[in-house]
Amino acid sequence: MERIALGSQASQLLTRRAMLKLAGTVGAAVMGGALLSACASGGGEAVSYSEASASTGDAPEGTASAPQLGDKTLIAVFSWSGNTLNMANRINELADADFFRIETAEPYPDDVDATIERARTEQDADFIPELAARVDNWDDYHTVFLGYPIWWYELPQAVKGFIQSYDWAGKTIIPFSSHEGSSFSGTPADIQALCPNSSMLQGISIQGEAVASSLDSINVWYDGLALA
Ligand SMILES: Cc1cc2nc3c(=O)[nH]c(=O)nc-3n(C[C@H](O)[C@H](O)[C@H](O)COP(=O)(O)O)c2cc1C
Repeated sequence: MERIALGSQASQLLTRRAMLKLAGTVGAAVMGGALLSACASGGGEAVSYSEASASTGDAPEGTASAPQLGDKTLIAVFSWSGNTLNMANRINELADADFFRIETAEPYPDDVDATIERARTEQDADFIPELAARVDNWDDYHTVFLGYPIWWYELPQAVKGFIQSYDWAGKTIIPFSSHEGSSFSGTPADIQALCPNSSMLQGISIQGEAVASSLDSINVWYDGLALA
């Protein structure tokens, strides 16, 4: 399977120093603690979270007829510094899927402080940035692996915008994320709330610095999904 290269905006890795700075702003209790434990364990192990447990999304009585769905799989990923993209690339090696990068029309800056600031401003205002491209043939997809970093405890606004751009009825969503201490931070439930009548399978969230050394845990998780 083709490997997806990092774009320019993802070329700069989020440094530990920058994360410590972020921890001071986001909340030392969550991020700082996790960073320290990650340091102590040499990066930590991949963890999967069951909060995104399997659920069905039967259409309520009286709603429109069942949506037409294809049987294809899509991997859609937003990634700024490459960790979540790394996860997506491994999933892409395992799944027979199409690959889509969620990108904003105006790229996030390469500078981490500027990105942190822009993300915060966008979230505070609930501003959805314009996206660079749309998925072709959305209706062909039945299953969507949706990947993102945790930004300020939440879905990045670009991912929220991506979700809001499509009809998810009947789709099966499989979330995956990377983070520096907040794990999924409730985002699978947020996705479910934004995607009525969809189903969700258990996702995986990995601490950013540990992604590169934890890619095999993605294989284990993927096998556990037992996708047809
Ligand atoms: C703007 C911004 C906000 C972040 N907020 C959080 C957060 O609230 N909790 C957390 O655990 N990590 C947070 N992080 C760290 C990222 O989630 C983490 O480094 C992730 O692995 C980055 O993924 P990426 O390389 O795919 O962009 C934040 C990073 C950025 C740039």
